[in-house]
Amino acid sequence: MTLIAPSILSANFGKLAEEVILAEEAGVDMIHIDVMDGHFVPNITIGPLVIEAVRKATRLPLDVHLMITNPEKYISDFVKAGADCLTVHVEACVHLHRIVWQIKEHGIKVGISLNPATPLNTVEEILHEVDLLLIMSVNPGFGGQQFIPSSIDKIKRAKSMILKGGYRALVEVDGGVKLENAREIVNAGADILVMGSAFFGEKNYKEFMEKLEKELKL
Ligand code: DX5
Ligand code: ZN
Repeated sequence: MTLIAPSILSANFGKLAEEVILAEEAGVDMIHIDVMDGHFVPNITIGPLVIEAVRKATRLPLDVHLMITNPEKYISDFVKAGADCLTVHVEACVHLHRIVWQIKEHGIKVGISLNPATPLNTVEEILHEVDLLLIMSVNPGFGGQQFIPSSIDKIKRAKSMILKGGYRALVEVDGGVKLENAREIVNAGADILVMGSAFFGEKNYKEFMEKLEKELKL
């Protein structure tokens, strides 16, 4: 089964709680929250306060994608705010193993993420420790970018690495995922699809989910 995680980056922030409730009613599986610091990526978005507000609006798992440098400084803030899974970028962590364990010690799920140009072998020594491998299919920083086609092969290789090792990690794909390419991405091995502009750009989220389910034959 494919899990759908709409990214609130493309939601209407003026009525964020309402947007999250509508997404939940449409049948999504989790809420993807993009945290950007203006250092690791060239954009600034939201922090723990907004996550706390989203936490109050929904019971769905909050899948928090940290695109920040020095994530170790903020782990407990994001846990307190209500994150169910914290994903850090491999490129932002000098001591990735330490940070993975720091997150695990809070009793929540942990994910690691790779930018498009970062090779898969950088996670070889840690993949067995994590719940999620997030493959970025755009350069992180903004919603509404084009899916990078070579990501398909990377997703395939990531999935086979996980299957070969017998690991539990799910493969999540983030960036440029749309109704039109969702099936190809799932066929390549994605377990979770993040959808920002494709989801929140629709008028009717329920209808969109129906179309998507048909497309994926969930
Ligand atoms: C990009 C973010 C994504 C973004 C995806 O840096 O990590 O989660 O919101 O947006 P779309 O689906 O519009 O590419
Ligand atoms: Zn994201």
